[in-house]
Amino acid sequence: MSSPDVCPPPPEVSAGAHIDSYEKYKELYERSVQEPNAFWGEIANDFYWRVPPPQPLLRYNFDVTKGKIFIEWMKGGVTNICYNVLDRNIHEKKLGDKVAFYWEGNEPAESTSVTYAELLKKVCRFANVLRSQGVTKGDRVSIYMPMVIELVVAMLACARIGAIHSIVFAGFSAESLCERILDSNCSLLITADGFFRGDKLINLKQIADEALKKCDEKNYHVERCIVLKHLGRDEVTCDGMNKTSPPCKRLCADGQTSWNPSRDLWWHDLVKDASAECEPEWCDAEDELFILYTSGSTGKPKGVVHTVGGYMIFTATTFKYVFDYHGDDVYWCTADIGWITGHSYLTYGPLANGATSVLFEGLPIYPDISRMWQIIDKYNVSKFYTAPTAIRLLMKYGEEPVKRHSRKSLKILGTVGEPINPEAWLWYHNVVGEKRCPIVDTFWQTETGGHVLTPLPGATVTKPGSATFPFFGVVPAILNESGEELEGEAEGYLVFKQPWPAIMRTVYGNRQRFETTYFKKFPGYYVTGDGCRRDKDGYYWITGRIDDMLNVSGHLLSTAEVESALVEHSSVAEAAVVSHPHPVKGECLYCFVTLRDGHEFTKKLTDQLKILVREKIGPIATPDYIQNAPGLPKTRSGKIMRRVLRKIAKNDHDLGDISTLADTSVIHQLFENRCQIVD
Ligand code: WT7
Repeated sequence: MSSPDVCPPPPEVSAGAHIDSYEKYKELYERSVQEPNAFWGEIANDFYWRVPPPQPLLRYNFDVTKGKIFIEWMKGGVTNICYNVLDRNIHEKKLGDKVAFYWEGNEPAESTSVTYAELLKKVCRFANVLRSQGVTKGDRVSIYMPMVIELVVAMLACARIGAIHSIVFAGFSAESLCERILDSNCSLLITADGFFRGDKLINLKQIADEALKKCDEKNYHVERCIVLKHLGRDEVTCDGMNKTSPPCKRLCADGQTSWNPSRDLWWHDLVKDASAECEPEWCDAEDELFILYTSGSTGKPKGVVHTVGGYMIFTATTFKYVFDYHGDDVYWCTADIGWITGHSYLTYGPLANGATSVLFEGLPIYPDISRMWQIIDKYNVSKFYTAPTAIRLLMKYGEEPVKRHSRKSLKILGTVGEPINPEAWLWYHNVVGEKRCPIVDTFWQTETGGHVLTPLPGATVTKPGSATFPFFGVVPAILNESGEELEGEAEGYLVFKQPWPAIMRTVYGNRQRFETTYFKKFPGYYVTGDGCRRDKDGYYWITGRIDDMLNVSGHLLSTAEVESALVEHSSVAEAAVVSHPHPVKGECLYCFVTLRDGHEFTKKLTDQLKILVREKIGPIATPDYIQNAPGLPKTRSGKIMRRVLRKIAKNDHDLGDISTLADTSVIHQLFENRCQIVD
């Protein structure tokens, strides 16, 4: 495959684009960073405000040496994000009959859709249910659900009544769910009976029960658990969805959902008599909207907090410009709502623009390897957003399955989650998009709330593998180890110099951790934790994490959390986990374990360890390799040199400077015990 160095935006894309040239991008960008109050003020005017936000919109301190870190956008402005993404579209823009979501189930036979007006009714009913269960403004509600329309309903219902949602990805374990419920002090959990992931049944309610039991053991009692009947839906008539595929029938036949009558309530029983009208709770722009947990390098996940106003205007604006959204688009983001991408670019951003989206419950290659292309043709998807890991997976099956489908509706292709290797970028561009569709490689984080480095499809000349330039309002810099800003071509720490509206506001319940994690290393800057290179043309290239984090299939995990799961096994004295390259997942986990005296390293043990990690964290954290490490390479101060372990995993004998190692004799044995790598 020939590899172009640069890819200019196709003229037909630029022609109708909101931002149709680099000059226009530059002009708006300059204004956005020089006059943030005016720039975002105009954007805020497009939304509904009970009380318009007073000027200046932005107040902040980014410098720990000058006092406490704080960021406020539009404080004093009063609004409701649910009202803005639903009622405003219906009443002001007359989009009531427009489809908000096409829902496509795990099985191709399962699908349904919901219009804006229908969605609003569902949300209002459920918001009234939450209120009748005693949920009020500021209360935290945990949501642990599969990819169904009711997941969106649950989150928007929380937003409507000013409750703070904390969504936990349905692939997380009972232990992880329990930890998140405890940390956020949730009083209510919303879940579902279960769902199918491919042909595998996930009994979600059972996992939720285990999590709540673990909470009880820690003396924390969740009073209410609302359960959506998803698997046995055809028995339920009140919410209008009709699932008829065989696997659902299969579960109906088995049919038992464990039940605690003093705590559990069926969703369909509750919404049956609830009113479809619900006055929103009017919120300050700086009221908390949601908590979303992301891995932290100490092992304990951080509850990233986003607030109503800034998040609303930033996700809406990035969605509009980065996907060059127009009213007739059909947009499909394949991310799960349990991650930030699903919050910002499946729910809030698209809905704020009145967009029609596909909400897909299933897997990329189930029931067959063409599923994605079938869905694109079925709904005439024009804007498609997925992760490099999915692209690499589909690439494995060659061009034929792609080419068997038309894909003529496609206009823009997006990617997110990890650095995309140029080979995958080019395949996406040449094969999937037939060179017609600009690729937007969007760099951002749970913490940034929305895109921060990204091309704009009608304006940016792209380079395969580069996230190109900053979005409006974002001011990146590259620092060296001593915190000096580097100009021109450079490589170092990626930081941001001033807040954009959707930057996180704090770590839930732990302001100290917020300040130390993001602001302490380089006072005056927000530190992303990513390494970055700027080339001679000013393009930014993310080089990967520089902390002890790994990125598996676009999901961040900390080495510490996997290590602490491993050492819970009675045979394991010590563990060290490093990232190892993986052809599909991008990175995978390579674990070194030191056993306690008298314990033997066996296949049975490694199997047990894999299960243990899955149970503690979830399937995404399953180790790919576990090797016996009678000794670990440590510095004299006792710090494990993971850099050396990464080299050992790769069988790279060029270990660099190991003069600070306390005992170099461990190295030989580690090379001897290496795992066989399977690609
Ligand atoms: C980390 C954030 C943002 C939603 C999904 C992940 C990596 C993300 C890119 C990209 C290179 C990327 C970074 C970042 N990352 N997008 N386009 N190019 N790296 O959210 O779990 O908070 O992870 O993902 O390392 O810091 P997250």
